[in-house]
Amino acid sequence: MFTWVLSEGILLENEAVLYHELTAYSRDRHWLKPISDERILRGFRPLSQGRRPWPDKRYDAALDRVSLPAPAAAATAGLDLAVLSRLLNDSAGMRTAAGRGELRFRAASSAGNRHPIESYVCARGITGLPDGVWHYDAAAHRLVLVGPAPRGECAALLLTGVPWRTCWRYAERGYRHLWWDAGSQIANLSVVADHLRVPATVRLGFADADAAALVGAETPWELPLVAVTLGRGEPALEASGPAEPGDLGPDHTSFPLIDMVHDATTLADSAAARAWTRAIGGGPSGTTSSLVPFIAGRRSAGRFVAGAHTGAGQLHQVLDLAAAELHWDGDVDVDLHVIVHTVRGIAPGLYRWHEGTLQRVPADIGPHDAYELAVRQDPARDAAFVLLLSCDLRRLVAGRGARAYRAVQLAAGVVVGRAYLAAAAAGLGCRALTFNDDVLARMLPASPAGLLLAAVGVPGGKD
Ligand SMILES: Cc1cc2nc3c(=O)[nH]c(=O)nc-3n(C[C@H](O)[C@H](O)[C@H](O)COP(=O)(O)O)c2cc1C
Repeated sequence: MFTWVLSEGILLENEAVLYHELTAYSRDRHWLKPISDERILRGFRPLSQGRRPWPDKRYDAALDRVSLPAPAAAATAGLDLAVLSRLLNDSAGMRTAAGRGELRFRAASSAGNRHPIESYVCARGITGLPDGVWHYDAAAHRLVLVGPAPRGECAALLLTGVPWRTCWRYAERGYRHLWWDAGSQIANLSVVADHLRVPATVRLGFADADAAALVGAETPWELPLVAVTLGRGEPALEASGPAEPGDLGPDHTSFPLIDMVHDATTLADSAAARAWTRAIGGGPSGTTSSLVPFIAGRRSAGRFVAGAHTGAGQLHQVLDLAAAELHWDGDVDVDLHVIVHTVRGIAPGLYRWHEGTLQRVPADIGPHDAYELAVRQDPARDAAFVLLLSCDLRRLVAGRGARAYRAVQLAAGVVVGRAYLAAAAAGLGCRALTFNDDVLARMLPASPAGLLLAAVGVPGGKD
């Protein structure tokens, strides 16, 4: 275990901070080049074609399967198969882009199109579906029965992450990606749940080992990330018997640094889970339901028309919806800043988004800085504005504990996931972007731990 260092009553370091710093991108190195540190896995070569991970988890053909109805403009009278079908399709469902051959895309965005998230339904009282633990087979839009009826009062979804699927490309930084991608899926899910009036609550307050046992996830190859309860009462997250382990494919590599941060942010038992869940926050329901029509056609903008202006109203619309409160147990402070390039009526520069208003940050920041920030990717320079998510990580984990690390990464994914939909609603395009941690820390010294970026602008040009 990494040693905690106490100074003036503030915990200065823990495993989450250490992980974050060791997976930082900086100006000095290419993203594929690992830093030299004994805690980074030696000799790992990313993107090895011979070791390409399976895109999904597979199960024995003899297990019970239930086809989900085609997702329709679902009825809203309680939780039934039609509603479940819509929730799963619109958050984790598969779509194949025309003319892209075998490339499979999904409802929510995922860095590098890796899609490392698996979704399980912990069914209790869902009309038309026997109680049990079901795995969502996105490619066939059906459920596979993998475990006996869970104990609890209301149905829940449990999302897990398969590190190898994304670490194959991003190495140790892939642990961040698990949370971002889960957040992007939760963004869609919460929008649809809002629309269908399903009371959905996002929870990080569960004992990790219990959740893993419930769905047959074997640590460290598959990690429980986040639960979403669908209804009221105690969520059905307690196993009543063993679950099928399934098959994630051969030849996974594990990364000691990821094991370290995941262990350090784990809740050991239900008492620790209750202690985490201090309160369920969240705004009035219905806030984001207007985004539903934009899920079906969501995709990342390839390029933006450099110099093209958006209106100030469009920027406010995107930020209001992206930053809308989430109904969840992770009350953590994530800061949202915006670099404005070309928005009519708003001077170019850096702003903090605070309680629905833009506050100018006195710093000379322009398109070239945004380009450097986004690891020299054109969309950050050509967009009309760029969202920056960050936090004061040391202070946060000192106050809320190491699990807050999961919460901030997830929250960043949710904001960016909503930004995609809100941008489409405003007639604009969006692309999530990774970033250079160094550049971000210098740009935002009071909130120096970078989380994620999203570029928003007038889409144009080719992918
Ligand atoms: C967390 C996250 C980070 C991403 N980072 C980048 C990036 O740095 N550069 C980029 O061009 N696209 C980035 N993307 C966009 C993905 O490449 C894109 O979502 C994926 O290729 C699937 O395409 P789709 O969004 O059109 O479904 C990111 C997406 C997510 C969710």
